[in-house]
Amino acid sequence: MRTTSRYRATARMIAAIGVVSLAAACSGNGGAAGGGDAANYPDENITIVVPFSAGGPTDTVTRMIAGPMAAKLGGKIVVQNVEGAGGTVGAGDVARARPDGYTVLMHHIGMSTAPALYKSLGYKPLEDFETVGLVTEVPMTIVARKDFAPATLQDLVTHVKANASKVTLANAGIGAASHLCGLLFQSTTGVKLQEVPYQGTGPALTDLVGGQVDFMCDQTTNTSGQIAAGKVKAYAVTTPERVKSLPDLPTTTEAGLPQLKVSVWHGLYVPADTPPEIVQKLSEALKVALADQGVIDQMAKLGTAPVPAQDATPDAHRAKLDEQLGTWAKIIADSGVKVS
Ligand code: MLT
Repeated sequence: MRTTSRYRATARMIAAIGVVSLAAACSGNGGAAGGGDAANYPDENITIVVPFSAGGPTDTVTRMIAGPMAAKLGGKIVVQNVEGAGGTVGAGDVARARPDGYTVLMHHIGMSTAPALYKSLGYKPLEDFETVGLVTEVPMTIVARKDFAPATLQDLVTHVKANASKVTLANAGIGAASHLCGLLFQSTTGVKLQEVPYQGTGPALTDLVGGQVDFMCDQTTNTSGQIAAGKVKAYAVTTPERVKSLPDLPTTTEAGLPQLKVSVWHGLYVPADTPPEIVQKLSEALKVALADQGVIDQMAKLGTAPVPAQDATPDAHRAKLDEQLGTWAKIIADSGVKVS
């Protein structure tokens, strides 16, 4: 990420840097300014900013596609975690980055909820970004610490209604997918719970396995392994159909909470005014990555799948973002949640 005075973004939080190196022969000298030169793009490292902690669901999906994308582009991709405020810190930094294709953002449903939750957000999703393409839509699971008393989703509802002031609900900050699902759970059951915010659901899940928090709602790309290993208790998945990789896990409808439906769509973004030829190169590389058998297999193992090729495009992504901004503005206004 290259912004002049905003290296504080880097100082603020760089949790983890991984380099997916590729055809070194075709990589540029890595240092020189790209300057939005579409013909020679990429001639230095591309950074994909993940606005949540390393090892979490958004980070996992990003690192899956980074390799095949870099191979198609013939360059290097660096994954950088810039955490904070439910993903709005990392998104804000990319909005202010140079529009030259070397700073890319992986974000999810949180891009469409933040304007309704934050009075002073510092960016406008439709105006300050170019959409590159959708990536995947991940189901969520309701999971609890292994020794938590409730055995079923209905038991959980009864338990939280009887012990609302004592039960802790983890999430990745206001506007994060885990927060939204938690909001839906609370508005569906009519309880207000103690929310415990983290910088991502990666660290939240670690604490859940360790018994420090009671339950949370999180993406299958993060919870599948712990569920399969029996390290957490799993109550339901928030999609209309069961997830193939978790065949024994009922849907929220089967488990008696049909209103609790949500899945987490993800997409890639670059700063507004990034040359359209560069956006097209990134979108083409994304399509190649989503057609990669290795990516398809990894996603299936973690309960999700790539979007169809026609959705991995700037226009389809922009249409989704536009629709979701409207949808969540209403849901959040009705829920009465506000952040100054
Ligand atoms: C993460 O990567 O930590 C999650 O996407 C956080 C969330 O939105 O719940």
